Amino acid sequence: MPTPALTFANGIDAENYRFLQEHVHSQAGIVLEGNKHYLFESRLAPIVRQLGLNSINDLCALLKATRKPEVGRSVVEAMTTNETYFFRDPAHYDAIRTVLLPSLKQQRKDTNKLRFWSAASSTGQEAYSLAMLLTEFGFPGWNISILGTDFSSAIVDRARSGKYHQIEVNRGLPAALLVKHFLRSGVEWQLSDTLRRMVRFETIDLRNSMRAMGPFDLVFCRNVLIYFDAATKLKILKEIHGTLFRGGWLFLGGAETAFGVDEWFDRLTIGTASVYVAR
Ligand SMILES: C[S@@+](CC[C@H](N)C(=O)[O-])C[C@H]1O[C@@H](n2cnc3c(N)ncnc32)[C@H](O)[C@@H]1O
Repeated sequence: MPTPALTFANGIDAENYRFLQEHVHSQAGIVLEGNKHYLFESRLAPIVRQLGLNSINDLCALLKATRKPEVGRSVVEAMTTNETYFFRDPAHYDAIRTVLLPSLKQQRKDTNKLRFWSAASSTGQEAYSLAMLLTEFGFPGWNISILGTDFSSAIVDRARSGKYHQIEVNRGLPAALLVKHFLRSGVEWQLSDTLRRMVRFETIDLRNSMRAMGPFDLVFCRNVLIYFDAATKLKILKEIHGTLFRGGWLFLGGAETAFGVDEWFDRLTIGTASVYVAR
């Protein structure tokens, strides 16, 4: 008699757990350790229900049997963590306002052109915070573009809409900026078209080659590298370096540090913010 497959208490077979780990890793580079059963259960339950299946094991069987790319993609997107909020890590925005923008205003006075990138932009709060900061700072008549990119297309669609729930505008957004740049729309808040037009969102996997996208004056790559293995992280940092102007700035998440990048970046401290300056 064959030995029954080992089953975890919450119902994902050991083999299926490994299959899901491998699937998410190969599709998005995200490393999920062996103790994320609850995360898989809670994030994949809606997909299981939507497809009329009974369990995550059934979902795995479907994926293995059909390799349905759209189901495979929705599984990966469900496993991404999209936590974000307006003006996250205020010290970064302070450094941009007090040091980077005055210097760019001088450096770029001949072209009047500035380019920014919010890599892993999630639902857009990071890119729109920057748009508000630039508007408040004042670059009248300048050609300013902000690119927001994320792996998840559903998330990118939400970012494009510029619509936020009350709970989202309550997080990090000063009341004065809410009143100035948003209008109430039912139970949501709609960002003004002027600010929405400053930001373009695209679906991009950070593991792809990105050099052609630059050059940028500033790149935010915050709270995403933590999900990758060391080799992927280094490769992405090298690619980002290739998208920055010499002297361009990179911000990582408040709790993230980059090792092995001394060849490409100098590390600068401004207030409590760490900035990686492209060599
Ligand atoms: C925690 S959010 C960070 C949002 C924002 N940068 C911040 O710090 O508030 C991480 C984002 O990274 C995205 N992500 C994960 N893997 C990715 C990949 N391989 N390429 C691009 N984006 C990815 C997720 O979809 C998610 O929206």
